[in-house]
Amino acid sequence: MSSILIDKDILLDCLGITQENTSNSLKLIEFCKREDIKAWVSEHSVSEVCRVIAGSKNIKEFFNKLKDLLEIFGVLSLNKDNIFSAISRLDTDYWVSIQYEVAKQAGIKYIVTNSPHSYGGDSQNPEVLTPEAFMERVKEEEAGSIPPLDLKPELHQFWDEAQKGLGRVIFSTSFILGDTVKRFEEEFAKYCGVEHCIGVASGSDALLISLMAIDVGPEDAVITTPYTFFATAGSIARLFALPVFVDIDSATYNIDPNGIEKLIKESCYWDGEALWIESPDVRTSPLNPRYFPKRRRVKAIIPVHLFGQTADMERIMEIAKRYNLYVIEDAAQAHGAECWMVGSGPKRVGSIGHLGCFSFFPTKNLGGWGDGGAVTTNDPELAEKIRILRVHGSSPKYYHRFVGINSRLDAIQASVLLAKLPHLDTWIDKRQRVARRYMDLLSLNGRVQLPEVAGYVARHVWNQFVIRIKGDGKRDQVQKRLKERGIGTGIYYPLPLHLQECFSYLGYKEGDFPNSERASRETLALPMFPELREWEQEKISRELGEVL
Ligand SMILES: Cc1ncc(COP(=O)(O)O)c(C=O)c1O
Repeated sequence: MSSILIDKDILLDCLGITQENTSNSLKLIEFCKREDIKAWVSEHSVSEVCRVIAGSKNIKEFFNKLKDLLEIFGVLSLNKDNIFSAISRLDTDYWVSIQYEVAKQAGIKYIVTNSPHSYGGDSQNPEVLTPEAFMERVKEEEAGSIPPLDLKPELHQFWDEAQKGLGRVIFSTSFILGDTVKRFEEEFAKYCGVEHCIGVASGSDALLISLMAIDVGPEDAVITTPYTFFATAGSIARLFALPVFVDIDSATYNIDPNGIEKLIKESCYWDGEALWIESPDVRTSPLNPRYFPKRRRVKAIIPVHLFGQTADMERIMEIAKRYNLYVIEDAAQAHGAECWMVGSGPKRVGSIGHLGCFSFFPTKNLGGWGDGGAVTTNDPELAEKIRILRVHGSSPKYYHRFVGINSRLDAIQASVLLAKLPHLDTWIDKRQRVARRYMDLLSLNGRVQLPEVAGYVARHVWNQFVIRIKGDGKRDQVQKRLKERGIGTGIYYPLPLHLQECFSYLGYKEGDFPNSERASRETLALPMFPELREWEQEKISRELGEVL
């Protein structure tokens, strides 16, 4: 149960203008606050209420009260098509049709009013309920399903700003780059504590363009983890470079610096300026069937801050410095996460390596309403090159210094991200609260291994809450049983990258990275989002106890 549409009669009751059902209406508001249910009103209701206030004796007092109420409620308006659709329902009162259309447009399941009879009998979708009936329904629904991620409850927190921003972009008709993208880049750079941020089309492109900016190509190799989303290694292979995998630390799921040291010691050689690695015969690669240099220069490390927890950046930066390597942080899942660094205290991801790559895919802690990404850096030359690379390598326009790609953050996405960014820290705090509650609830369950927060992590931002369930096939069984009980979970990731079909040309085999392989078999991501409620977590914990 994430949101409801409140009828104007409840607004009038709460203001004290009508008093037939005041106590019910006030109870409803308190209930919504307590249960974290987002209440919306239609713009039409607000206009109606304003009209009534304007005809009353206490105009100022009522307007002030209305303002306070609208701090709690979100306001929804209708587009032209929905207005026409409301008008065309000749069998229903226009006012009632408007309420139905508003609720439908926003995917709201319930309209709450003290006079359901005025909505007629045909109220299946959305359903019309009195405050008492609605409160009862919530209790019944507590036995219902819990999705792995629900973005709806946070919508009304930034809806007004998003609408204003979208309106500005649309009416300016400046859809590509322009002021909105520039403003977001400045704000996000400030948030990450870096000099430069360059908006690109996705997190995958952020990685690809970052590698292009440091001239990674067929002569090069890049070290990364096999336990990550495909794009981390896909971007390396796309440039005909060699992905070299290093296993994860089994407690944090992040690349293990000891493993990087071991790889360098056992499989690389240092000529005083550069680090080299023998290249496997990659003639079978689907991407570069003709190119297989015998040795490649190791040019960079891509650590991934998986699930919202930073990799061990102090150690990784030290190794990179020793061997003249770039560090490209894959921070797609970790906006705002921080790592303790000797000498400078906690540092935000994206500001530690030479380049930081972010995704604004909707499921991320800062997600847009479509694809989006960004690269952050303190290096002015890399920043300039990335700005050029994202527009086909041209500077000035139509004069191409590099062979770049078309990869720009959409102005529409930038306006949504600008509306959401001021809420990010509050949402991270809420995610931390959810994580603490899980830790308390699940610590009693000896069969579940809880996530571990490493000592070097100054701020975990909990993009995912991932538990481990040991035993052959047990994790998949548990996921299936939870699904039957209405609890959605996720598996990140079921097959590590070194065992993916498209990377078979690299010559890795099962057993090469045991920690990643075990994680792929044992990990399960529980529902995690800022507005996940206490009773939902209690239910998840209870059900998990029963199905294990
Ligand atoms: C670790 C990691 N890297 C890269 C990406 C790619 O980001 P995008 O989906 O925006 O291309 C993702 C997104 O899922 C990710 O989780």
